[in-house]
Order: sequence, then C-alpha cells, then structure tokens
Amino acid sequence: MPDNTAIRPGIAIRNLVLHYGVHEVLRGISLDIADAEFVCLLGPSGCGKTTLLNAIAGFIFPTAGGIAVNGHEVRGPGAERGVVFQEYALFPWFTVEQNVQYGPRLAGVDRKALNAISDHYLELVGLSDFKRHYPNQLSGGQRQRVAIARALAAKPEILLLDEPFGALDAMTRESLQDELVRIWEAERRTCVFVTHSIGEAVFLAETIIVMQAQPGRIRAIIRNDAPRPRARTSDSYFSMYRKVDEALRDRT
Ligand SMILES: Nc1ncnc2c1ncn2[C@@H]1O[C@H](COP(=O)(O)OP(=O)(O)O)[C@@H](O)[C@H]1O
Ligand SMILES: [Mg+2]
Repeated sequence: MPDNTAIRPGIAIRNLVLHYGVHEVLRGISLDIADAEFVCLLGPSGCGKTTLLNAIAGFIFPTAGGIAVNGHEVRGPGAERGVVFQEYALFPWFTVEQNVQYGPRLAGVDRKALNAISDHYLELVGLSDFKRHYPNQLSGGQRQRVAIARALAAKPEILLLDEPFGALDAMTRESLQDELVRIWEAERRTCVFVTHSIGEAVFLAETIIVMQAQPGRIRAIIRNDAPRPRARTSDSYFSMYRKVDEALRDRT
C-alpha cells in the first residue's frame, strides 16, 4: 500500500499491478503526480493507459499495489476526481446548461448558484451562447468543450481525461488543446491526460509518462520544461518532441 507517513496532496501510485484474468495489463507502476500538475500518459495502443486512468478514477481495482489520492486509498469513484472520455458522454436529453449543472445539482446546489456555475464554466469554454442547445445541435469540438465544462463544474481537484480530443479533426484538436492549457492555467486543477500523440503530450504536459506495452509499464518519465506559452513550431517544442519520440522508440 502507499506510504502514508507523509500525507500530501496529489496522486501516489505504488507498485500497481493489474490483471484481467491471466492477462497482465499493468506491471509495477509507481508514480507520483503533484497537486496542480499536468501529466500526460503517452504510449501505443494497448499499453494500458485507459486501464491506469480507470484505476485512478476508481472504476477498476488493482490486483496488487495501490493508489492514494491526497493520502487516501482509492476505493471507488469520488467527487474530487472528474472524468472526460473520448466519446462525448453528455446526456442527450439535457441542454448544454443542464449537462454542466448536473454534478452540482446532485450535490444539492440551489438554482441560483447552479446558474452562476454553468455560466462561469460555459464562458470558460467559450460556449455561453449555446447554453440552451442540445448536444446533437453541437459539433464534436463543442461537445467536448461541454464535457470539460461539466467535469469542471463538479469542482474536482483532479481531471482525468482519456484521449478527449482523439475523435476531433486536427484543427479543432489544436484549438481544444489551447483551451485546455488556458483552463488549466486559470483553474490549476491536477490533469492526467491520456494520449497516443507525442505532439499533444509535448504541447500540454509538464510531465510525460512514456509507457510501453505487454505488459503495460512505465518506460520513461520526462520532465517537459518547454516554456509557456508553447508554440508548435518552436525549437524547444521540436527538441522535446525528439526526446519523447526517442524514449518511445527505445528498444533497449
Ligand atoms: N475489460 C477488459 N478485459 C480484458 N482485457 C482488457 C480489458 N480492457 C482492456 N484490456 C486489455 O488491456 C490492455 C490495455 O488496454 P487499455 O488500457 O485499453 O490500453 P490503451 O488505453 O493504452 O490503448 C489491452 O491489451 C487490452 O486488450
Ligand atoms: Mg485507451
């Protein structure tokens, strides 16, 4: 189990092993994620990124080892961890505004405060003019903006994002990346973002966790100190890109 001698904010993963039946999906994952840090889990398809994220979310449980959030062992989902998936998991029968209000409404927030919350987060994601729309009236990028606003509105300390922009076209994807960085800088939540795109990880993350498959494990932890705002054409971006690419390819 995690070492709880010093309880500190953030996520502590200790010697995590996860099997599906006889299939060893994750082996010996140990990782510390600091409060307000932006971390990308990067690796090829099947290396266990989603499995690791779902374990942090508390949707599935490790075979051995453990995960602690703010010093408390993860035993299931919790309001301090918000999740955004690749597929737009919005309620189609709710308006944009009602979707964003969903978490705080469950938490018993009153009507007036609910409106203030949804107004704030819809403004943050640039969708103030769409609050009465239904999800099927929005583009893919707009739906993912709503999903992010909805996750944030529940005021999680930690945002867990599983390839949230994976289904979007390249231009929309870049603009959502820009927005996510702006939101992260404004709100300072811990972000754990799964991607198989090197460019996305280099643009977003402070720390890039390079994973490898069969079994899923950590190959390298790369600190990304490229200055912000980051430009996708800068020397620092390209040199970090090369470094991460080499770590992914390293066959030793
Ligand atoms: N529910 C499941 N039952 C059995 N095997 C699974 C299940 N979910 C994922 N796997 C296997 O675990 C491995 C890692 O999957 P996943 O975490 O989805 O990887 P990634 O998100 O990196 O693509 C894959 O080999 C996948 O086939
Ligand atoms: Mg996945």
